[in-house]
Amino acid sequence: MPRLCVNVDHVATVRQARRATEPDPVRAAILAEMAGAEGIVIHVREDRRHAQDRDLKILRHVVETQLNLEMAPIDEMVDLAQRVKPDLVTLVPEKREEVTTEGGLDVEGQRERLGEIIDILRRAGIIVSLFITPEMSVVKLSSKLNAHMVELHTGHYANATTAKEQRGELDRIANAAALGRKIGLGVAAGHGLDYRNVGPVARIPEVRELNIGHSIIARAVLVGIHQAVAEMARLIQGR
Ligand code: PXP
Repeated sequence: MPRLCVNVDHVATVRQARRATEPDPVRAAILAEMAGAEGIVIHVREDRRHAQDRDLKILRHVVETQLNLEMAPIDEMVDLAQRVKPDLVTLVPEKREEVTTEGGLDVEGQRERLGEIIDILRRAGIIVSLFITPEMSVVKLSSKLNAHMVELHTGHYANATTAKEQRGELDRIANAAALGRKIGLGVAAGHGLDYRNVGPVARIPEVRELNIGHSIIARAVLVGIHQAVAEMARLIQGR
């Protein structure tokens, strides 16, 4: 069964809408852990549109499970990661104009730069994951570049409009996960997962972490974080 890692960015989105001090993603993270989350994820974007450096620093002190910093492969963020030392860094592509992370990293196009960053983060004692499209060639290249893990992008699966398309995307994810595990990579998955579509991805045996943000925080606005996280954890465990 994969572990549920909760992304608390959108608690910060609500806070930043008013440039206020609440709701606090740090408090949300603590409540999420108390409800069964086995990891906390935060994406500090270059434009700081939601999570702030302050959030990351306090989370480093209070998170008791695993703290995963999503970040763009740029010098400023590499410096931040070296200073704060999250347990895990997930390198993601970042475009200023996008609403959310749209695709996986261009691992081939950025191989040299990614290789250097992976090396720096590894030397700082941080586990490094690459957020990638579920393709065999990209999984292999991630391993060549010495990443510890890959996070498979489930966005196309989540956005599929027919059952056939969804099955096809699920197969792509399952095949990429199997290859990743076979060649020694840890395998996570995420993006666009919600209460209706999470089950089949959670049942892929090689997937050991699911990173889920928007659907959980959206539900938490209505029912509270405890219930929203506990319901998702139950679905992942097949209960
Ligand atoms: N994984 C990665 C790499 C992401 O960038 C995001 C979005 O921040 C997620 C998972 C979570 O996606 P969602 O908010 O759609 O659950």
